[in-house]
Amino acid sequence: MDHEQKALSYDQGTPSVSLFEALIWLEDVDSTQEVLKKGNFESGTVVVANRQKKGKGRKGRRWESQEGGLYFSFVLSEEIFRNIMGFPLAVALGVKRFLSSQGFSPAIKWPNDVYVEGKKCCGVLVERTGGWLISGVGLNVNQEEFRHIGEVAVSMRMVSGEIYDRRDVLIGILKEISEVLEGFAKEGFGSFADEVESCLLFRGQEVVVTDGQSALAGILEGIDGEGGLLLETGNGRKRILAGDVSLRPVV
Ligand code: ATP
Ligand code: BTN
Repeated sequence: MDHEQKALSYDQGTPSVSLFEALIWLEDVDSTQEVLKKGNFESGTVVVANRQKKGKGRKGRRWESQEGGLYFSFVLSEEIFRNIMGFPLAVALGVKRFLSSQGFSPAIKWPNDVYVEGKKCCGVLVERTGGWLISGVGLNVNQEEFRHIGEVAVSMRMVSGEIYDRRDVLIGILKEISEVLEGFAKEGFGSFADEVESCLLFRGQEVVVTDGQSALAGILEGIDGEGGLLLETGNGRKRILAGDVSLRPVV
C-alpha cells in the first residue's frame, strides 16, 4: 500500500471490540472497500480513511467522502453467519445504537441507511466476494456542508453543534457493531427484529419499492424475523427480500 499507514491499538482504555482484531487508519484512499478487496487481510480487519476519492454507495452510486466524515470497511468470513440476509440491517443497528447513546434519535431506513432528523447520516454497503463479507460504513460526523448532494445528507455536527473525536466515534461504533454481529452470528436476525422495527423509517406510511424494473406500492408494515420488508399492498401482504432495491415514501 502506498498510503501513510497508522495502526491504532484498542488497549488505551477503550471498550472491547472482540470481532475486530486489527485496525488500519489511512489518509487518502479511493475506497476502503477496494483496499480490503485488493489486499489479503484477515477476518476482523478494519480499514479506515480520512478521505475517499472514489467512495461508493450501492448500485454504483457515489459516496461523498470529504474530510470530517468517518469512512471504514471491515472484512469477516461469511461462514460465521448462518443467514446473511439481515446483515446490512444488523450493521445499521449497531450505528443506530451508537447514535442513540450520543443523544440522537436515529431511524433505520430499510435495508441499509441510518437517518437523523429526516436526512441521511450513514450508509452501509455490504459486498460478498469468495466467502468474505466486505462491509463499508460511511458516517457523517464533523462535516458542515455537503458539496454535491446538499439537502439529503446531515452530519452529527450539523444536528448537535458539537465537534466529535472521530477516533472515539469509531471505537464506539465498532463496539456496538461487534456486539450486534456476535448476536447475529449466534441467534440470527430474529433477536433484533423488534428493535429494528421500532425505529424503522416510514413505518405505517405509504411507500414504493423499486428494483429498477418493477415497482410495488403499499403501506410499510414492518420487517420479519429475517429482515425482510413487509408491505401491505392492494393484493395482500408482500414480503420483500433485501437486495438492490430502493425504498421511497409516496408524498
Ligand atoms: P435507496 O437506498 O432507496 O436507493 P439512496 O439514495 O440512499 O436510496 P444508496 O445507494 O443507498 O441510495 O446511497 C447512495 C446515495 O446516498 C447517493 O446517491 C447520494 O444521494 C447519497 N449520499 C452520497 N454521499 C452521502 C453522504 N456522505 N451522506 C449522505 N448521503 C450521501
Ligand atoms: C449507501 O448508502 O449506498 C452505502 C454507502 C457506503 C459508504 C461507505 S464509506 C466506507 C466504504 N467505502 C466505500 O467506498 N463505501 C463504503
